[in-house]
Amino acid sequence: MAHSLADKISTILHEFDSRMHAATTLEQLETIRIHFIGRSGVVSSVMDALKQASLEEKRIYGPQVNTLKNHINEELERKKLEFITHLQTQEEKSARAFDVTARIWQPLHGTLHPYTQVIQELEDIFISMGFAVVDGPEIETAEYNFDALNIPADHPAREHHDTFWLNVPGLLLRTHTSNVQARTMRQATTFPIAVFAPGRVFRNEALDASHEFMFPQGEIMFIDKNVSLANLMAIAQSFLQKFFNKQDLKIRVRPGYFPFVEPGLEIDGQCPFCTQGCSVCKRTGWIELLGAGLIHPRVLKAGSIDPEVYSGFAMGFGIARIAMIKYGINDIRVFHSNHLPSLQKF
Ligand code: FA5
Repeated sequence: MAHSLADKISTILHEFDSRMHAATTLEQLETIRIHFIGRSGVVSSVMDALKQASLEEKRIYGPQVNTLKNHINEELERKKLEFITHLQTQEEKSARAFDVTARIWQPLHGTLHPYTQVIQELEDIFISMGFAVVDGPEIETAEYNFDALNIPADHPAREHHDTFWLNVPGLLLRTHTSNVQARTMRQATTFPIAVFAPGRVFRNEALDASHEFMFPQGEIMFIDKNVSLANLMAIAQSFLQKFFNKQDLKIRVRPGYFPFVEPGLEIDGQCPFCTQGCSVCKRTGWIELLGAGLIHPRVLKAGSIDPEVYSGFAMGFGIARIAMIKYGINDIRVFHSNHLPSLQKF
């Protein structure tokens, strides 16, 4: 009995010391505590054995077991304190290492598509000038896209519109926003009619840096009594000044042909980027911006408006083209690409 108690105490001591040496976490210390001095731990089993021992043995081994227990308790406490102090120092160190100037991770935010942004900008401008924003269908009849605009089936102007015809006879994807003209006229009940109609149009044509097969256009139409070219030019100038944010931006007018206006005009804006000529205006100082004119009497009639009483003007422009000029984009195809550096300009 004596021999085995002495062995047990020394084995426990060695095992304890070696497990303590290997311990690295507070959780491991707790496991060691339960194993050695827990209620049914190995030290308890030695104490139970001691109860059966003789008085002489109790006198010899009792103090040894107590010393063992104290050693275990003290070592556990010491190591626990050491671990806690170490953890606190680590926390303090990492708190001190906090760098308030460090770059924080920022998620990439999406934005509205540039076309949407530019259309909203244009809508604000035209609403501020008293125009209503109207919409027209993208799938259109030949009547509104062509016939009502004085472009009958045999008219050569149809050749210039590279049309996507649908399988349904007489239906097509609108080739311009001018399709809203007769539609709006037929629905109008009061004058003046003042509308801005932005939207997508479609043309089956070869693609390059300035030509897409699907692109946004904007149509402006104003009808009342005694409307003249002077009204057209005033609206064009003030819209372009607002859009390009250049109060002294000048416009110039050249003759142009569109079957639905008479006279027909092309309106150029003074290059907003230079005074002497630059690469954007191809050194001319002017940029072609709008097709326009006084609405042809036949178009007014097609819209059920009496051309003897009323007159009006219409303008149409490529929204992508004016956005490219304003935001310095040199290839229209980026708008429908995933080219982030270009799209992030917006
Ligand atoms: C028209 O579409 C006329 N409806 C404009 C108009 C309205 C004239 C009212 C008179 C009165 P045009 O085919 O020129 O006109 O096109 C107008 C603008 O759309 C062009 O100046 C150009 O800026 C833009 N555009 C034309 N084709 C393309 C294309 N493939 N890709 C991008 N933009 C284009």
